Amino acid sequence: MTMLVTGATGNVGRHVVDLLARAGVDVRVTSRDPASLDLPAGVAAYRADLTDPKTFEHALRGVEKVFLYTQPTGIDGVVEVAKAAGVEHIVLLSSLAAAGRDPDHWIARYHRMAEDSIERSGLSWTFVRPGPFAANSLQWAPSIRAGKPVRLLYAHSYLSSIHERDIAEVSTRALLRDGHAGARYHITGGDSITQAEQVALIGQAIGRELAFEDLTGDDARAVFHERIGSRLQELVRDGIIGRTDAPDIVETRIRYYVEALEGPVEIDRTVEKVLGRPARTFAEWALDHKADFTN
Ligand SMILES: NC(=O)c1ccc[n+]([C@@H]2O[C@H](COP(=O)([O-])OP(=O)(O)OC[C@H]3O[C@@H](n4cnc5c(N)ncnc54)[C@H](OP(=O)(O)O)[C@@H]3O)[C@@H](O)[C@H]2O)c1
Repeated sequence: MTMLVTGATGNVGRHVVDLLARAGVDVRVTSRDPASLDLPAGVAAYRADLTDPKTFEHALRGVEKVFLYTQPTGIDGVVEVAKAAGVEHIVLLSSLAAAGRDPDHWIARYHRMAEDSIERSGLSWTFVRPGPFAANSLQWAPSIRAGKPVRLLYAHSYLSSIHERDIAEVSTRALLRDGHAGARYHITGGDSITQAEQVALIGQAIGRELAFEDLTGDDARAVFHERIGSRLQELVRDGIIGRTDAPDIVETRIRYYVEALEGPVEIDRTVEKVLGRPARTFAEWALDHKADFTN
């Protein structure tokens, strides 16, 4: 059985590669810069870009299953190339937003474009839809390493952050075993705590009390805009959002933080159903990432 992993340098993809290689699968990966990859023995790397589907023709020859990173630009072409190569099943790294209440949300639209294309293709699929990644907290690492307070947008808002290894394990299970075709797996972390509590847990993991700044209202808007401004420009360029959508995106995120101040968010049990054990907690993630937060 030959499987191809896209996004193999990513938070999730790198674990999918390791898990498949350890399971004895013939694994290939693609990257836009394969020379930069550090891969387990026996894993072959191909240069390919999801926005340019024909670059996948070579890499997909003889492949039966694919772990696919979402990139709506070029998705129809990639799916076509996969079908022509004889691929049977695609596991898509989607997002919980794709199942959300707001059909106009850009993250939902972004992932739905890929999901819809795969559904239309007639190929067998599994959509893995994670909530917020615990790995998003790595953006705090430079401040923590420098001994500065962490800037939190609505520090007391709750979220249920998922460990990237849980996302990878669910995805790998869907690649290795039958019974996952047509499933949309909504997955969250094993607990729901505030961002301030997450910072405290990172502090416990590295043995140091950490300070944070609580940014709300216009201060939070400004910092959020600063963080995602260049990403929004890319989305406008790729036609995923309109030129005038950016202010709405900022307001939607602020609304989300304010709603999340009310209390813990729902924890989904899908990880447990699929893997037979509960999802990892944020405290476990912080211990696994101690090195990222220390000099
Ligand atoms: N962060 C969250 O809270 C969250 C929540 C739900 C869903 N998600 C979704 O999860 C995904 C991010 O996953 P991640 O954190 O594992 O990724 P990541 O660490 O951001 O890495 C991105 C990966 O995607 C690959 N990639 C990007 N553009 C590509 C292209 N045009 N062609 C081929 N490969 C491309 C990169 O490969 P090369 O650079 O090697 O080519 C890299 O391996 C996104 O789709 C995001 O929307 C994120």
